[in-house]
Amino acid sequence: MILGGASRKGTTMADDKRTATLTIDGQQYELPIHSPTAGPDVIDIRGLYGRADVFTYDPSYTSTAACDSTITFIDGDKGELLHRGYPIDQLASKSHYLEVCYLLLYGELPTAAQLDDFEHRVTHHTMLHEQMQYFFRGFRRDAHPMAIMVGVVGAMAAFYHDSTDIHDSWQREVASIRLIAKMPTIAAWAYKYSVGQPFVYPRNDLTYAENFLHMCFAVPAEEYKVNPILARAMDRIFTLHADHEQNASTSTVRLASSSGANPFACIAAGIACLWGPAHGGANQACLEMLREIGTPDRIPEFLARAKDKDDPFRLMGFGHRVYKNFDPRAKVMKESADEVLDLLGVEDKPVLKVAKELEAAALADDYFVDRKLFPNVDFYSGIILEAMGFPTSMFTPLFAVSRTVGWVSQWKEQLADPQLRIGRPRQLYLGETSRDYVDIENR
Ligand code: SDX
Repeated sequence: MILGGASRKGTTMADDKRTATLTIDGQQYELPIHSPTAGPDVIDIRGLYGRADVFTYDPSYTSTAACDSTITFIDGDKGELLHRGYPIDQLASKSHYLEVCYLLLYGELPTAAQLDDFEHRVTHHTMLHEQMQYFFRGFRRDAHPMAIMVGVVGAMAAFYHDSTDIHDSWQREVASIRLIAKMPTIAAWAYKYSVGQPFVYPRNDLTYAENFLHMCFAVPAEEYKVNPILARAMDRIFTLHADHEQNASTSTVRLASSSGANPFACIAAGIACLWGPAHGGANQACLEMLREIGTPDRIPEFLARAKDKDDPFRLMGFGHRVYKNFDPRAKVMKESADEVLDLLGVEDKPVLKVAKELEAAALADDYFVDRKLFPNVDFYSGIILEAMGFPTSMFTPLFAVSRTVGWVSQWKEQLADPQLRIGRPRQLYLGETSRDYVDIENR
């Protein structure tokens, strides 16, 4: 069953009549303005270079809409995150990860029959080709699991060649399901390999989150019972990280896809980008920072370092390119942290105590308040994941497992866009103008 993407709302671009006037050296250029269903209007500059022989300049694309999309919307000022219009706090409390995957992929919440079919399809694609185990065994035991995920996901193109043709809608659908279904197995096996334990195969009688916990923590020597509260917390963490507009890794996937690269290569590129500490690597970096702070009395020292322009240290888990209010995911994550630690009977761990006092101190500090730097999704996630038994090296792989559905949904949406062309940013060139080669004896 193949379902198309959601219907586009907002103005159809052809109907837009408003324009912006740009004057360059006395010459005026009218640029169309397009209005979204939510968020800022956009000025359409697609024809500007051809008409005015000028580029626009926006390093890091902080003011540039690279595409139109119907999947996710963020209001950074309000701290609002919508997936196909549904607020993330409602999805986190009322839905579950695979239902959110369906919503992101197909645009609407599923009926019971649609959800059963989707869950059946994902569940029956969780196994990896048996030969792929050799990829894991080729890595050093101390390899970072993100290095393994980048390599193994890219190698999927060699094993699932029957779902690499991006022009075939059925192959796109199969590749989407395979990536969502197999990512937990790849992440779990990367963890098992790092701790020298045997790989645990997926089980079809478990839910997505239960299956992942079972593949990570079960051992052949004894039965492993999944704790339902930990499974719920795991599912909620997956839901909170599922998609987030055109963030760095999603933009990487879109740019890779614009060249016609196969889906496995595109998602491997997204995983590589997510690894960075300014992006998905922040949850690992945040817990390591909390450990380095160690006790609340050292918080002022680290706040001073975070404010010192000569010190590269940044408060991990704080700030966001878009949110200039609380990251709504951080609020849900904070509630989960308390719930999981209560369940595990973990008294107020030093790291949680430092986190809560650091958050309070930063939110009372003019530097952070003036710059609208609030806790983001990564501030509390590491505390929960560590309490659940994951090493910090597994935090970003978990983010990659969850974000796979976002990358895949955005990848599918872009391939369905009739405007799709290969991405090719330009530049403001400040280098040498043309000059003749100088023989070495004359230099
Ligand atoms: C994710 O894009 C997404 O959607 C990403 C993500 C997703 O779901 O895909 O939400 C996931 O990546 C969350 C962010 C995780 N990263 C971190 O927690 C790392 C720490 N955060 C910073 O590196 C930073 O806040 C960024 C990278 C997240 C944002 O960087 P920006 O856009 O450069 O921040 P900004 O423009 O808002 O900064 C304004 C000022 C600057 O100082 P001034 O030049 O004005 O004096 O605030 C400073 C920044 O130097 N600043 C910080 C800070 N973040 C920004 N100062 C200290 N500590 C910080 N964390």
